[in-house]
Amino acid sequence: MGVAIPRRYLDLGDLAIARGVDPLKFTLGLGAREMAIADPSEDTVSLAAEAGRRALAAARLEPSKLGMLVVGTETGVDHSKPVSSYVHGLLELPRAMRVYDTQHACYGGTAGLWAAVEWIASGAAAGRAALVICSDIARYGLATAGEPTQGAGAVAMVIAENPAMLAIDVGISGASSTHVHDFWRPLGHRVAEVDGHYSVQCYLDALAGAYRGWKERARAAGLLHTATLASEQLARVCYHVPFCKMAKKAHVQVRRCDLDDARTLWDVAGEEASAAAAFRGQVEPSLVACSRIGNIYTGSLYLALAGLLDRDAARLRGQRVGLFSYGSGCTSEFFSGSVGPRVVERVRALDLAGVLAARERIDFGEYERIMALNVPAGGGNQSPRPGSFAFTGVEDHRRQYARSSS
Ligand code: COA
Repeated sequence: MGVAIPRRYLDLGDLAIARGVDPLKFTLGLGAREMAIADPSEDTVSLAAEAGRRALAAARLEPSKLGMLVVGTETGVDHSKPVSSYVHGLLELPRAMRVYDTQHACYGGTAGLWAAVEWIASGAAAGRAALVICSDIARYGLATAGEPTQGAGAVAMVIAENPAMLAIDVGISGASSTHVHDFWRPLGHRVAEVDGHYSVQCYLDALAGAYRGWKERARAAGLLHTATLASEQLARVCYHVPFCKMAKKAHVQVRRCDLDDARTLWDVAGEEASAAAAFRGQVEPSLVACSRIGNIYTGSLYLALAGLLDRDAARLRGQRVGLFSYGSGCTSEFFSGSVGPRVVERVRALDLAGVLAARERIDFGEYERIMALNVPAGGGNQSPRPGSFAFTGVEDHRRQYARSSS
């Protein structure tokens, strides 16, 4: 895995004070501490390319071993030319490979992940690996309810046979989809339209369907026994995290499904305390990075996974974790995987703490200034940080990027 985030962040305490909101609403109510703020040089492409470069370096993979590059995004930069084609060029990847984007709100990256996993499992990859990158910039209107749930970043994953970090349980997943207007971004709009509370309900409804589908297949494959709740047989569960409190609501929903499905274990009085303890043990360890970066749409689930492995790699080796991906609109999938044998070494290369420590805190005034900036048209002058890429402007309708020499 490789993670890339913008170089600046806003502390949500500063946002709360500026907006006249009790800071506890953001910290306790939403579970958020900081949010990443992307300036115009840090777009979906430059973040994706940096994450991809980091993932390839961490896996020590020769680009010639790649047969597929997929970028999942809902903040594409062109109606036709995919983000992946820019990334393919910036990373100087081989010609002989598939390169395309996948889109379905925050589920887009998971669509890419499964395409890669099933390509490898089918044998069609013939020993080649895939690079899957989730990259997005989450923007809501200033002073709206969604404002404290913004963020930006990219997570890249090398998908290969004999996985080092997580072996996905191929064929064991549950999906749930319905046509709803919970969150969308009409063509030409810079910020999303969202029916916030309804989107939370859509997420929870989808989760119940997807989780039950996963349970059915996991049970049929002999991965689950009946002695304890199914969710308690997962060492940890990572959820799509639009804001951290959502993961808490999600885990309560999963336990509710378990208890409904196994009525003999139902204990209404004890459940509140049990759910809180289960959340602390099984989910909270995945939320540290998410609470400091914010929503990164397609990458949020995988940022939770990276954060979890960063913290608990050695302890989790060989254990099964659950993953839930949700894309508004909506589609969703619950799946699982076992933590791989070389996870400790890969987590060291991921260096999530270093990525977070390299950031600069900005004040509310600077945040408002950056949010008001337009995309540079005639060529910008932003230079990339060492080892990264920067969007520098549009020339003759063509987006231009710079890469640092180091
Ligand atoms: N101290 C502690 N907690 C507080 C508080 C305070 N002073 N004030 C409010 N809260 C709590 C509320 O009780 C609520 O908790 P709960 O959800 O457990 O009941 C939480 O903070 C949020 O408050 P709420 O009034 O519901 O917030 P909101 O109306 O401003 O909107 C969202 C919250 C999530 C709907 C909004 O941020 C949004 O639209 N986000 C974008 C869409 C999104 O992320 N959807 C998720 C599914 S994809």
